[in-house]
Amino acid sequence: MSDISIDYQDIQGNSLAGFNKDHQTFLLVQFRDAPSARTWLATLVPRISPLSEVQDFNNLRRSMIARLGRAPRSLAVSWINIALSARGVDLLKSDGDDPLDDNAFNVGLAGGRADLLGDPPKRNEWKFGATDKTSADALVIVATDAAAHLRTVVRELRDGIKAANVKLLYTQKGHTLEGNLRGHEHFGFRDGISQPAVRGFTQPPKPGEPMIWPGQFVLGLPRQDDADPDQPLDPLPCPDWAKNGSYVVIRRLRQDVEGFWQHMKGEAARIGAGPEFPNIDCTRLASMLVGRWPSGAPFVLSPTSDNPELALANDFRFGDADAFPPVCPFAAHIRKVNPRSDPVEGGGPSSALTRRFLRRGIPYTDGPTDRGLIFVSYQSSIENQFEFVSRQWASNDVLPVSPPGEEAISGFDPIIGQNDENHRERSMMLFGHTGTAVDVILPRDFVTPTGGGYFFAPSISTLRRWTAE
Ligand code: HEM
Repeated sequence: MSDISIDYQDIQGNSLAGFNKDHQTFLLVQFRDAPSARTWLATLVPRISPLSEVQDFNNLRRSMIARLGRAPRSLAVSWINIALSARGVDLLKSDGDDPLDDNAFNVGLAGGRADLLGDPPKRNEWKFGATDKTSADALVIVATDAAAHLRTVVRELRDGIKAANVKLLYTQKGHTLEGNLRGHEHFGFRDGISQPAVRGFTQPPKPGEPMIWPGQFVLGLPRQDDADPDQPLDPLPCPDWAKNGSYVVIRRLRQDVEGFWQHMKGEAARIGAGPEFPNIDCTRLASMLVGRWPSGAPFVLSPTSDNPELALANDFRFGDADAFPPVCPFAAHIRKVNPRSDPVEGGGPSSALTRRFLRRGIPYTDGPTDRGLIFVSYQSSIENQFEFVSRQWASNDVLPVSPPGEEAISGFDPIIGQNDENHRERSMMLFGHTGTAVDVILPRDFVTPTGGGYFFAPSISTLRRWTAE
């Protein structure tokens, strides 16, 4: 592992370490011209939080929690990271710097990738990123431990934006939920449990976290080989300036919480009247859709009731305990997006690992009917990771895993799957104790994209070079 050399001073901190803050703000900024963009960025570069600082802070916090038995009260910092769209990179990069060749990144969500993901074509409610005009050139992520402190930092940043003659398109706030819902997303399920561990970085990995080569998340580092989990693949080819950078996906996903639970009640009553899942209630049904109970307990480890003692459990496989009929439905959200040891196309022992990305999202609450998740992911290929998982697995009723036999359909991911642009209804299959398929019908989306963009978070040295010219 010593041959992996991670540059802690050069890589931005939110990728490998994760800010893990309760309060975050996303500033979506548009450039007017290269000189003013450079002037603005030059003021920001010294404030960008490198991996070294974020990792040191996270380690200190972990060690204090272990000593005190609770979170420390007075340990507080603020973090800032920045990422650029293809248009932003194009404007800022030096003459002679080659462009990036990630097709998804270059086309962007507004340029056609939102259609490809199956997003509803009516995008008038998107807050940013629906069209070229509303797409940002830069995404600034600000994260702090205290909401008041965040407001101060954001105010400073907004003043800087004004002074530099760049345009603030949109400000998106995110906060972890409070009370019993702390650590949970808006439907009520614990989120942020399962993350890949990064070789040469995560020390030690948590049980059940596979070690993944860091080049899956940061360019210029050794990548995952789908044929051999322990041997690295050469880094993905990229221009020199892109080394130590990562692609960033942001999606503003609105959740219709009332609609979801009302529908779950109706479906539970319908399905519970049949022989396969007698009297199933809406919480159990929804947990089958997610693959975990509200506490976070994996459905496959606790199929009859929630068990908060297993809330953070991540050391499980779907295949072993789970021959046909499956305990955890094939189309459950966590099984669709990470099939673990299930064999997937490609067939290599670590094929599924090559699709993983680091999730850095946070809930947002902009009003009673406008709340959801700011989904954020870091990866070294948008096309082969975020988009592959979204399109080929979540929005596909057969892949990655289907039941044996004639009815080889598992259905769509019921949380994030999208059927096609105009036809929103979709279904997923549950299999009862006799193996008979029972359809759960989802007549419409309960998660709807209302903003987003594809970005690239360059290394700090590259940003320094681009702003010094
Ligand atoms: C509002 C939308 C979403 C909701 C409510 C949601 C909810 C959840 C929940 C409750 C978990 C289980 C907790 C955990 O392991 O962290 C989870 C895991 C996960 N989600 Fe989502 N999610 C959403 C969007 C997405 C999107 C857009 C993607 C990417 C395509 C995604 C990918 C993942 C992945 C990779 C995992 C980890 C699975 C595992 O390793 O077991 N999610 N999500």
